[in-house]
Amino acid sequence: MGQRGWRQYGILALLLAIVGGMTTLVSYSVPLYRLFCAVTGANGTTQRVARDDAQRSARVVTVFFNTDVDPALPWRFRPLQRKVTVHLGEETPVFFEAENLSDQDIVGHATFNVTPDKAGLYFKKIQCFCFTEERLGAHKTVEMPVEFFVDPRLATDPDTQDVDQITLSYTFFRSARPEQAEDLQRFADAPPDAARGGLLFAAQCSACHAAHRVKIGPPLAGVLGRRAGSVPGYPYSTALAHSGIVWTTASLDRWLTNPQAAVPGAQMPMAVPDAVRRRDIIAYLGEQKNGS
Ligand code: HEC
Repeated sequence: MGQRGWRQYGILALLLAIVGGMTTLVSYSVPLYRLFCAVTGANGTTQRVARDDAQRSARVVTVFFNTDVDPALPWRFRPLQRKVTVHLGEETPVFFEAENLSDQDIVGHATFNVTPDKAGLYFKKIQCFCFTEERLGAHKTVEMPVEFFVDPRLATDPDTQDVDQITLSYTFFRSARPEQAEDLQRFADAPPDAARGGLLFAAQCSACHAAHRVKIGPPLAGVLGRRAGSVPGYPYSTALAHSGIVWTTASLDRWLTNPQAAVPGAQMPMAVPDAVRRRDIIAYLGEQKNGS
């Protein structure tokens, strides 16, 4: 079997692994966290709890996410990850998605609770949409970030020492005070966020791509401005190698929307249907320079 044949088996195995991986844990690297936090902090997010890395503990807890919508609110609302396993003290971003199923703009209001109750004290949110009145346009979908960490004191409090699973539940209700709402569109209209793109890359692309070495897919450092299918030694499909594409923000956006539509015969078995995610991933790729 030739190299291409092996690669196809590899891709199949990987797809299965990715499907499995989506329902379990997604872990991100520490530098990406720092970057993410630096960016969200710079945007003026409030209530950042100062914390130094020495406090980060070897103890891990698994945090599960749960969402509900009151029947009076015609929204769909779901966590984009079912659970994450985190070190105590580790700042962790997670994402939720809300969709307004109705023909009108509607204002919702979320409440949350943490179980077991006794762990609530140690569950710290740095950035979230809780308790604010949130407007979502008719038929709009938006992704909302929540950033949290679990206080390392969880491990020393005799009441909570044994806790290794925490559930964060959100319920969205129809707002009683819609006048003061903020528009959820702000999350979609925010400028491209390379740090968030890095997190998405880690979750969705890093199984097949690295910056400098060949994995299932070609290395991606310096991809912006590079000719498609041009990394020496990587066994590209003929279609991509002969496509004549130069990777720009626009051509990467088309590629990630649907690789086979962008380049018929191309062999990347993966697409990113969400435009905001594509934008952030491309911003991240733009920062991955060849020399770095
Ligand atoms: C399951 C494996 C897999 C995943 C996941 C994957 N890719 Fe790929 N990617 C490939 C393969 C294989 C190719 C080469 C395609 C070909 O030769 O036709 C490729 C090619 C590319 C290229 C063209 C590079 C070049 O040198 O011309 C870019 C850009 C790219 N991928 C970006 C991404 C991004 C961004 C993600 C995450 C959103 C991603 N890929 C996820 C397998 C994957």
